[in-house]
Amino acid sequence: MKVMVIGGGGREHAIIKKIKENQSVKTIYALPGNGGMASDAVCVDIGAKDIPAIVEFAVLNKIDYAIVAPDDPLVLGCVDALEEKGIPCFGPRANAAIIEGSKVFSKNLMKRYGIPTARYEVFDDLSNALEYLKTAPIPTVIKADGLALGKGVIIATTREEAFDAVTAMMQDKVFGKSGDHIVIEEFLEGPEVSVLAFTDGKVCVPMVSSMDHKRAFDGDLGLNTGGMGTVAPNPYYTEDIAKVCYETIFMPTVRAMNQEGRTFKGCLYFGLMLTANGPKVIEYNCRFGDPETQVVLPLLESDLLTVMQAVTNGTLAECNVKFKDEAACCVIMASNGYPSSYEKGFEISIPEDLAESVYVAGATLKDGKLLTNGGRVLGVTSTDKTLCGAIEKSYAKVRRIEFKNAFYRRDIGQRALQASKKGE
Ligand code: AMP
Ligand code: GLY
Repeated sequence: MKVMVIGGGGREHAIIKKIKENQSVKTIYALPGNGGMASDAVCVDIGAKDIPAIVEFAVLNKIDYAIVAPDDPLVLGCVDALEEKGIPCFGPRANAAIIEGSKVFSKNLMKRYGIPTARYEVFDDLSNALEYLKTAPIPTVIKADGLALGKGVIIATTREEAFDAVTAMMQDKVFGKSGDHIVIEEFLEGPEVSVLAFTDGKVCVPMVSSMDHKRAFDGDLGLNTGGMGTVAPNPYYTEDIAKVCYETIFMPTVRAMNQEGRTFKGCLYFGLMLTANGPKVIEYNCRFGDPETQVVLPLLESDLLTVMQAVTNGTLAECNVKFKDEAACCVIMASNGYPSSYEKGFEISIPEDLAESVYVAGATLKDGKLLTNGGRVLGVTSTDKTLCGAIEKSYAKVRRIEFKNAFYRRDIGQRALQASKKGE
């Protein structure tokens, strides 16, 4: 089989490594991939948003199966365009990817179908939004409607900050058209949990839960990033909570999308907050999370490609999806200065025996040398019988990987470890 993976980050590298385990896979193409995955896939210089070029490549190369991983191509209709040419895909069509593509859509969906989420108001007019903010409870959360590279959410802790954020989005258009409509919502508190789930529109199979670490610095300080590390499972996500989420959030969402004529097939990501009033949805993503995938897939015991094909074929109910009863930890090594400005072009040295543990996100090959080429450079994952063991193993590996200006958090998994010790 010839499999094509759209995207070029650590998440895609994790998907590719897992897909490789299937004996029927002969060639994997990554569009565009990155230099760090060259030994696992054939990287093709086509951008993830260039849908006409992706389709042309798939047809010319007789691709048997396509996995569309990032949000942009999904929202832009990459799956629709490939399916039109008869290429089976993993990922939702554009009319379902809107669950991530528009926060106004997802909030209204949850309201219509009684799915628990933060209370909210939608605005498409600056003066109305400012008027509302004069009396809104503070802190408040302001979200641009569309995709905004993960930066479209502002938690305003003062009224001034809230006014500034709304003005920046709606008047100064810092996120372009994504700021035409905004959501202002209630600030929720509680531990956050990421749950990725396979769904074929009929059944929903949640994967092992995980915990992201979004802030740049230890102790959850500094700017929000694309994610500095993850652990799985998430100790706050007990079996009882999982049952509540399945019944009040996961299946209701799958059914709601069907009822809207927007059947969702693929990986549905639930960003949850476990509040004192029960679990609530913070956000939906229409895809695998990054870097959640880098801890979830190493714990998947079943064959990933088989599960994905069952999702595509609508036969997920017949598929046995199993996870190992172990823990995983992924530590992201970034370029110093990320998520603001940083230098790149430094040589990366990865000892050969660590290659299997490393998912490369931002690197390029030049004259046979692997050079840093992004803010998040790579993720290092380990699994172990215990979370403590997985964390220790990952950090031992991180210390053996070198590049100039490397930066990483030293406390990935510590909060989870404390929580599991306390039995929270
Ligand atoms: P998002 O880009 O939607 O994942 O939001 C980024 C982060 O903002 C989330 O991971 C939460 O930590 C935080 N956040 C989003 N919405 C809320 C909310 N209503 N209350 C508290 N924190 C929130
Ligand atoms: N780790 C959060 C995301 O993938 O959006």
